[in-house]
Amino acid sequence: MSGGTAGWIARAGAPLRGRVRVPGDKSVSHRAIMLGALAEGTTRITGFLEGEDTRATARVFEQLGVRIDAPGPSERIVHGVGLHGLRAPSGPLDCGNAGTGMRLLAGVLAGQAFDSTLVGDASLSKRPMRRVTEPLARMGARIDSAPGGLPPLRVRGGQSLRGIDYETPVASAQVKSAVLLAGLYADGETTVREPHPTRDYTERMLVAFGWPIEFAPGVATLSGGHVLRATDVHVPADFSSAAFFLVAASVVPGSELTLEAVGMNPRRTGLLAALRAMGADIAETNAGEQGGEPVADLVVRHAPLHGIEVPEALVPDMIDEFPALFAAAACARGRTVVRGAAELRVKESDRIATMAAGLRALGIVVDETPDGADIVGGAIRAGTADSHGDHRIAMALAVAAQRAVGDVRIGDVANVATSFPGFVALARSAGMGLAETG
Ligand code: S3P
Repeated sequence: MSGGTAGWIARAGAPLRGRVRVPGDKSVSHRAIMLGALAEGTTRITGFLEGEDTRATARVFEQLGVRIDAPGPSERIVHGVGLHGLRAPSGPLDCGNAGTGMRLLAGVLAGQAFDSTLVGDASLSKRPMRRVTEPLARMGARIDSAPGGLPPLRVRGGQSLRGIDYETPVASAQVKSAVLLAGLYADGETTVREPHPTRDYTERMLVAFGWPIEFAPGVATLSGGHVLRATDVHVPADFSSAAFFLVAASVVPGSELTLEAVGMNPRRTGLLAALRAMGADIAETNAGEQGGEPVADLVVRHAPLHGIEVPEALVPDMIDEFPALFAAAACARGRTVVRGAAELRVKESDRIATMAAGLRALGIVVDETPDGADIVGGAIRAGTADSHGDHRIAMALAVAAQRAVGDVRIGDVANVATSFPGFVALARSAGMGLAETG
């Protein structure tokens, strides 16, 4: 992993005030590179997330023969090669820390004429891939994995794919997207049905690139044999990055912070409902649209929070926000109950275990269950907490530390650069107490 630092010292800072604009959406940035590469013509991306994950995806497409220019920060010009224009890579394709990159690429590569191998870092190498290799195999793909269905993935080229009607056992936008992307190369119709609707960026972006697709919450259908036509993509600010500021400003007395032009796709904003149920004061202003996605400014003012039972139906809409929610729960009065969130155990870290361990190290009572946790809010003490190399755990612990009585040392934070480059500077500019220890 490049960039970042080994550790942070986080402590109570000033009230969070002013206006901040968080970086571009990770999910949208990955997909913009992918569809831009497979399109005919030149795609201009603005608001691109300059994170390690999304840069890894861009590098993979460069290895596959796609020219991608970076005329300025957060800008990319993707010179599309068309659906059948990718070239065989000369070595393994490194997705870094990115589950989204690897799983969506598995779908794209399953339809190519050449062999390829997808590899990742230590964390990604432990994440389950059978959830994508299994449906792709049903479509006719040949993908070998390491024992246990783990990376690396060796994708054999030259297979003819056929459309399937697939019901995903887990609510996963990555699985849905892998199958739909393979469906671009398949004979006939591909349908994906989900147990709960997940983020629909792949579907929306296919429409923007001119590919016929029908979709509604929980189901999407397309057929192979069409053409992607280049278009410009404007990436909204990432709600998942804004989440840390929503919680920090909610729990630090005196705060009043505006988060500008945040992506408000309803499949992403479950945390808003959860925080409001806990008593948070978050207003939406300047609602509009950017690149076909709803955006709004979020104005968050300090408010005393209380524990809640997080409705299980909200879980997929806030799947990346549980580290932030755990931090909010630690600062709330009473008990917060999370259930139905077993997927957290197979994210960049086991997020139930790593958040529980981190908060316990700071004096908070957390009881784990297989699919969630009970968190009892209380006084946060000084201490040392480990992020286990998980970007969102590091940032969530830094947020909890804003209410600590002393210094909180947070280790292994380099991977914050995967999703939120510049987090420390932005957090400090808003008032948070946070320093790099090198
Ligand atoms: C993502 C989907 C989610 C999410 C991840 C990004 C995507 O994963 O956790 O950060 O861009 O499709 P799952 O689909 O595995 O839930």
